[in-house]
Amino acid sequence: MSLIPEIKPQQSVELLKELHILTRDGKINQDTRRKLKQVYHLYQFIEPLMADVLTEKGSLTLADHGAGKSYLGFILYDLFLKDKPAAYVYGVETRQDLVDKSVDLAKRLGFDGMSFLNLTVEQSITSDALPPQVDIITALHACNTATDDAIRFALAKDAKYIVLVPCCQAEVAAVLRQKKNETFGKTPLSELWRHPIHTREFGSQLTNVLRCLQLEARGYQVTVTELVGWEHSMKNELIIAKKTSKGKKAARERQESILRELNLEELRERFAY
Ligand SMILES: C[S@@+](CC[C@H](N)C(=O)[O-])C[C@H]1O[C@@H](n2cnc3c(N)ncnc32)[C@H](O)[C@@H]1O
Repeated sequence: MSLIPEIKPQQSVELLKELHILTRDGKINQDTRRKLKQVYHLYQFIEPLMADVLTEKGSLTLADHGAGKSYLGFILYDLFLKDKPAAYVYGVETRQDLVDKSVDLAKRLGFDGMSFLNLTVEQSITSDALPPQVDIITALHACNTATDDAIRFALAKDAKYIVLVPCCQAEVAAVLRQKKNETFGKTPLSELWRHPIHTREFGSQLTNVLRCLQLEARGYQVTVTELVGWEHSMKNELIIAKKTSKGKKAARERQESILRELNLEELRERFAY
């Protein structure tokens, strides 16, 4: 057991060292203390979702897309899932070296309920390596359109919960730019193209608005909040969606009118519900 107050009794010290949350000699410093706080902050949103699924079904599958070093999957597994035999975590990642490292670490820690797949998110939708239904989908800073693929994965797998912290998505911004004269030329909103930061942020915000409407159209109740204290990244929007109904017609109509009025119709497939 660790004597460091921030470390929970059930946590693996070896894992925290591997994730550079503890130093090699098992100590915590100011930087790593902040990192641990951030990880717990995200964990506190996901723990009740995992508990809900386990209570309801007695089992749980979770897929983490664009997993990178899989630190999210590892932390969730270590803190909550490792003593629950009917829980399974999949990490989906395109970089073979990161997949190999995660496979190796899970083996060393005896985390049998984890697998790591060298696939794109898009490939994972139809891959036999994943089950036909997955309960919780996470995608933390999955690059560019990988977040959109994670949403399509979640819809295809009838997920109960989806947790997204999107990265920058360049596609919407590119189409907005292409059509800017047509869409905004005669309106004061052409000011959005004066400063690149505003253009980029507008593209990101709009992308997330379209994603939220897509999820609502498919029956998810969506909460958007801020990942407070996530100082390492400017991208700190947290989207949590819970499947509650068959779908909302009003959300479809809103999405459709945004696509039409902003001349983004070529992206309809990307945000299809
Ligand atoms: C910014 S990192 C985030 C990693 C991790 N989720 C985290 O928050 O620490 C994005 C990861 O997504 C992976 N990635 C990018 N595009 C992907 C795709 N289409 N399918 C699967 N993984 C992808 C990258 O290789 C990278 O490891």
